[in-house]
Amino acid sequence: MAINYQDRIPNNVDLGSNRTLQRALEHWQPEFLNWWQELGPRDFQVADVYLRTATSVDAKGWATYGFVRMPDYRWGIFLADRDAERKIGFGDFYGQEVWQQIPGEYRSILRRLIVTQGDTEPASVEQQRMLGHTAPSLYDLRNLFQVNVEEGRHLWAMVYLLHAYFGRDGREEAEELLERHSGDANKPRILGTFNEPIRDWLSFFMFTYFTDRDGKFQLKSLAESSFDPLARTCSFMLTEEAHHMFVGDTGINRVVRRSLEVMKELGTEDPMAVRNAGAVDLPTVQKYLNFWFSSSLDLFGSETSSNAASYFANGLKGRPDETHYEDHIAKEQSYTLELPDGAGGVKSEAIPMRNAMNEVTRGSYVTDCDLGVKRWNRVIEKAGYSFRLSLPSTRFRRNIGIWAGVPTDPTGRPITREEFDARIGDWLPSDGDRAHIMSLMQGVHEQGKMAAWIAPPDRGINNNPVDYEYVKLH
Ligand SMILES: [Fe+2]
Ligand SMILES: [Fe+2]
Repeated sequence: MAINYQDRIPNNVDLGSNRTLQRALEHWQPEFLNWWQELGPRDFQVADVYLRTATSVDAKGWATYGFVRMPDYRWGIFLADRDAERKIGFGDFYGQEVWQQIPGEYRSILRRLIVTQGDTEPASVEQQRMLGHTAPSLYDLRNLFQVNVEEGRHLWAMVYLLHAYFGRDGREEAEELLERHSGDANKPRILGTFNEPIRDWLSFFMFTYFTDRDGKFQLKSLAESSFDPLARTCSFMLTEEAHHMFVGDTGINRVVRRSLEVMKELGTEDPMAVRNAGAVDLPTVQKYLNFWFSSSLDLFGSETSSNAASYFANGLKGRPDETHYEDHIAKEQSYTLELPDGAGGVKSEAIPMRNAMNEVTRGSYVTDCDLGVKRWNRVIEKAGYSFRLSLPSTRFRRNIGIWAGVPTDPTGRPITREEFDARIGDWLPSDGDRAHIMSLMQGVHEQGKMAAWIAPPDRGINNNPVDYEYVKLH
């Protein structure tokens, strides 16, 4: 169905035919706008930003570009088209009709899954709200705001499901999504990573590369759901999410490229020399990578999980790209985990495959993360340097799961707590590293200019030049 932009709430779900639902969402809309004004991007609400807006949900031409003030962005409800032939793709109900309504017995679990996903969307807007001031260019400022408005739309996507399918509990959950806030001591966001402040642009690029990619894999798992409206909602969100990861991928690439340029100019790889020249040294890039990658790994949950097993058995949440697997029932298979043996070593243990679904999804995520690392390393290699970035082991610095609190080095080798504490500054950003990054964060808001710590992008947005005036400040 085409997107209706005539209604107060843009939608492609024929919202006008359900007056109760329409009224409920029109009641939530001003609360959302208040939240955006209060906790959305700080101080740029009257700027005209070159943003894309969804016009249709098919792969081609879903976006139109134009200058919009962020509070006027047309947030709405967009679901991928319904496939009348779609069948349940995994679990105990494999091959049956997908559900257009929620079976009563799965109501509270599905609500929890939707709320947990929904909570991350406004959280990231809150985490990033101060970054506009320190943007390295108007191009980057625009990308930040594009990500922010789309995370706002993802909140709309989840709130629609809560309102449309969960009655009063759903409406209450929708209110609470605006009441919890990132980093709030009393009412924090649900997941840890979404309470970490993002004060600098290196963290922002790491977040969009690693944490938005967690979002991608969660959405891919939910896009397999037997609850068809959830699957269709998540399918469309994935097309928006791709841009967020692009921002992270190219952002890190540009930081690395600038670092290499400076190394070349100075004729040295000395990190301190690179810093003194106003760039980010590669060892610091690695430390930020270690921090955000390990933090994002926790979002997948525990390696062995009876919840994950029941989500899979009941068809609520599947594996990303379920069609790529041969056995969609996964009842007889097992998965071999490596876990701490309690004596400073590692042991193996086979667990039922269904209980390992979090780990299976995490594994796909790690493989996907590594593609970018390989690309960044090719840039370093081409420049003639031997330094290489790498993903730390999934055992490193974990706070959730079987490796939680077990000290290991970045290769995953268990070490003593003393050794870990002694070497933490080599592996994670130290106060000094953070102070250096913060010292680089001077906003560049002049058309055609780029901060000295980052290389310009290869191309602009929507075929515009890199030095286009992507944000018109007033
Ligand atoms: Fe999102
Ligand atoms: Fe995102």
